[in-house]
Amino acid sequence: MKSTCPTLLVLLCCTLLPACSRPMPDRCVLTSSTRVQFDPELAPLAEYLTAYLPVTLAPNDANRNDAIRLRIDTALSAEAFRLEIDASGITLAGADYGGVFNGIQALFRSMPPEIYAKTRPERIELADTVWTDGPRFSYRGMMLDVARTWQGPDAVKRFIDLLAYHRINKLHLHLADDEGWRIEIRSHPELAEIGGFRGGDSPVRAVYGKWDEKYGGYFTQAEMRDLIDYAAVRNIEIIPEIDLPGHSRNIASVHPEIRCNYPPDTLATNGYDYRSAWCVAREENYALLADMLGEICELFPSEYIHVGGDEVDVSQWQRCPDCRRLMRQKGITDPHRLEDLFMKRVTEILAAHGKRPAVWNEAAASGEFTRDSRIYGWQHVKACLDATAKGYPTVVMPGAYFYFDMRQTPEEEGHDWAAIFDAKKVYGFDFAELGFSEEQMRHVAGLEGAFFSEAYVSHHPELPDYLDYMCYPRICALARIAWRGNEQGWEDFYRELVAEHYDRMVAMGIRFRLFPPRISYRDGTFTVETDDRSTIYYIEEGSPEEHRYKQPIHTDEPHRYRFFTRYHTARSPYVADKSYYRTLTPVFSLTTSMGESSSAPYANAETYKGLSRTRRACRRQDWIRYDFAEPVRCREMFLQTGNRQLPKTIITTGTVEISYDGQRFEPIGKLEKGSIALHPDRPVKSVRIVSTCDDNGTPYVTIQPPRIKPVI
Ligand code: ACM
Ligand code: ZN
Repeated sequence: MKSTCPTLLVLLCCTLLPACSRPMPDRCVLTSSTRVQFDPELAPLAEYLTAYLPVTLAPNDANRNDAIRLRIDTALSAEAFRLEIDASGITLAGADYGGVFNGIQALFRSMPPEIYAKTRPERIELADTVWTDGPRFSYRGMMLDVARTWQGPDAVKRFIDLLAYHRINKLHLHLADDEGWRIEIRSHPELAEIGGFRGGDSPVRAVYGKWDEKYGGYFTQAEMRDLIDYAAVRNIEIIPEIDLPGHSRNIASVHPEIRCNYPPDTLATNGYDYRSAWCVAREENYALLADMLGEICELFPSEYIHVGGDEVDVSQWQRCPDCRRLMRQKGITDPHRLEDLFMKRVTEILAAHGKRPAVWNEAAASGEFTRDSRIYGWQHVKACLDATAKGYPTVVMPGAYFYFDMRQTPEEEGHDWAAIFDAKKVYGFDFAELGFSEEQMRHVAGLEGAFFSEAYVSHHPELPDYLDYMCYPRICALARIAWRGNEQGWEDFYRELVAEHYDRMVAMGIRFRLFPPRISYRDGTFTVETDDRSTIYYIEEGSPEEHRYKQPIHTDEPHRYRFFTRYHTARSPYVADKSYYRTLTPVFSLTTSMGESSSAPYANAETYKGLSRTRRACRRQDWIRYDFAEPVRCREMFLQTGNRQLPKTIITTGTVEISYDGQRFEPIGKLEKGSIALHPDRPVKSVRIVSTCDDNGTPYVTIQPPRIKPVI
């Protein structure tokens, strides 16, 4: 066949191919008779293609001109590809397996978005193209925490598929933490069989999520091997993490002997031992570590095994006679240096299996840690600057830009301790602006996003909605800057996201977040706009019913409206006029039957400045009381125990009583997830929360300042 459409379009990745203006028939057309030829080592990719395209595999010696040809071309640089499309077919050459995979993703992007839905359209017509591209960084990663919230093989496979479409090539799986152990260890089956389940009668206390019910799960080694293979087909390496020597309360619940040698403080915690670090001085610990890490090394092909190293509570070592003796022997005065000793032993275990350690930035803070290790800089940009200045290969992932469990605007769900940010900030991460020198850039292995899952348990983790909403389009921005950088500029990237990538994500089934619509309220009229083809809706106070916004809304009660948008599988957060967010801060006194914490006294909540804590965990009949100096007239009073989004440090179950005179109380409702929203019809003098649970799973109860909305 001869092309009548000879235009060679040299396209940068991710831009849709412009439609060809010439007559159509002589274009490249894929149909069910199109065959895929491939170099032998590319067989898994040829197979991968058949799940998406209406094509069949050809014997290797086939020489047909309607074929897709997958080739290795070692003249290209690592993971780079050259994609040529003309009427004779598609020739895709990659430097290596990853290069061909990346080229397949480029090919997909030149096709109608529906191909991601695996509907295998009968006929796909393509414009002529020559497209050569390669990645900026060899490490383009995403971390998923399956320890705090269990996600099984099917959920992780879906996650891998979505990452692969974005040419993320590392999945860092956080497999063990204080709250869960998620990988079978054959020599110590109890680690997963007990540690994979918390709550109910498990010795592993539920700290997040359901308390009375035992729940959880873990990967068998066979399941993990299948997952490793599944990811490898998609050019993704799974890097396992066992978080050591801190974040180890789970394994310490199963094997209490690994802890330091002193009695725990369990008086305030209903008997639960919160110590979370391995004893560095206990020699037997290294035998258990050798067994368990040995199996991890054998199971995972990755060169690096992540062994944690973050947030170790060294006070446990300071109290331990054995650790103190070890410090004296070694001439150490700083207990943090015990982590160096521990990690040195762990590194020796890994080295015996031909592996290198990957660690969070704290583990290498002393600068004495083996240069063989890869550092994951999470705490702040400075941690990444320090690690690269010392010459460590560094994965850059400061939480303020790359922790996708952070909320995206102040009113949305998620954490906020690192920052509140959306995809625009991720895209704006700029090494030069942040002070990385050329020499430091040589030590940047790449970028990684992270989804820690302690809050996920309260967001229906059996559904993908919350994970998707938190991760996309932030992963799109991460993937772009890891692949190419951000020189394109935000405005242009945003236009491309909306014009092209939104439809792809819809076809991928991603329940992604839309940017909020712009609202204005002036002279009694709401006007709402979007620039992303989404449909605008609103809800009114007191009703969950959604209405289509079709024209400006005239109202003198703007606080009653909240707006949002939808686009197929995606939705935006709510936005409202500032009057919706207005709150009152009436004088009140807080008292409880559980005593007052000295570090977070009642005054924190009373002054609306922060949270208060009780001195101990709650038991049945324990109470919290809010007494207002003057009766408060309001349209809503929201009372909350625990931390926002986190089913932790709450009063797990309780009743709520209201008083209009400060004397007589009457029942008004029950706590849900530690909170209640009251809508009183009269001024309120006092409210009392009474616990109906005998334990809240944590050493104290947190009390947030009340959020009180005025009658307007
Ligand atoms: C971390 O977020 N503690 C690595
Ligand atoms: Zn010790």
